[in-house]
Amino acid sequence: MNRRRVVKVPASSANLGPGFDVLAGALDLTLTVEVEETGEFAVITDLPVPTDKSNLIVRAFETLHSADDFRFTVTSEIPLTGGLGSSASAILAGVAAADHIFELGTDLLAQSTKLEGHIDNLAAALYGGFVVCTRGHVARVQPPAGLEGVIAIPPADHSVPTEQARAALPPDVPMREAVASIAHSAYVVLGLERDDWDLISRGLDDVLHQPRREHLYPQSMQLVRSARGLGALGATISGAGPSVLIWTTWENTGNVLEAARAAAPGWDLRRVTFAQGGLDVIV
Ligand code: HSE
Repeated sequence: MNRRRVVKVPASSANLGPGFDVLAGALDLTLTVEVEETGEFAVITDLPVPTDKSNLIVRAFETLHSADDFRFTVTSEIPLTGGLGSSASAILAGVAAADHIFELGTDLLAQSTKLEGHIDNLAAALYGGFVVCTRGHVARVQPPAGLEGVIAIPPADHSVPTEQARAALPPDVPMREAVASIAHSAYVVLGLERDDWDLISRGLDDVLHQPRREHLYPQSMQLVRSARGLGALGATISGAGPSVLIWTTWENTGNVLEAARAAAPGWDLRRVTFAQGGLDVIV
């Protein structure tokens, strides 16, 4: 019988405002990859991604084993550009598929970081929930019941390459900004742990990276700044942008979604919940 696995990986939003490169959360938008040993290489998908060996899922798979005899069937709810962790999810899917099929016992996070330098999206997509991560250590935080979001994705021509976003940041930052970031990150994590919406709301503002990248996503920053006026707890640029994660509680999400639609015409706005679970492999 052909060896076959189905791998499901959630989207993720990194930074969560003040937690640059450290905080991230998994979102309930899913990448699904079916990998089957058919004796022939193929990538089947409707997505605008390569279908040869340069496909990111295939490249990740091939860090562990040749993909020559495998067919990859890919569907995804995760927008490909925008800062929702689509690359991290693709890499994890490829690595996890090869690891399971060949029973390798791979450290999925370490293996995946060989292709994706930043651990934040990878850790959230792998473990689900929220994560506090540094290279070598990940602490998971359970998403509070009732916390939701609206993800606002600008049109494709607003996309921001991560390299450009990283180049906008200086090697060092002033002490007062570092201190503010420590405080705000602590509020966010404490708020998540305590189901305390006020603490989360107080923590979401960032002074470290979003203002320095504002010229790359000016309309996204306008939406971030207007979020509380729309009835939300606050908003954060998702990863390196330009998508915006607007934070809400379940009873407000519908109203915030409507208000955000009016504030960002032409954008793709979706209600999201934070995913409890991370990567899943189905035999
Ligand atoms: N934390 C990264 C950044 C993006 O903001 O550049 C996601 O890995």
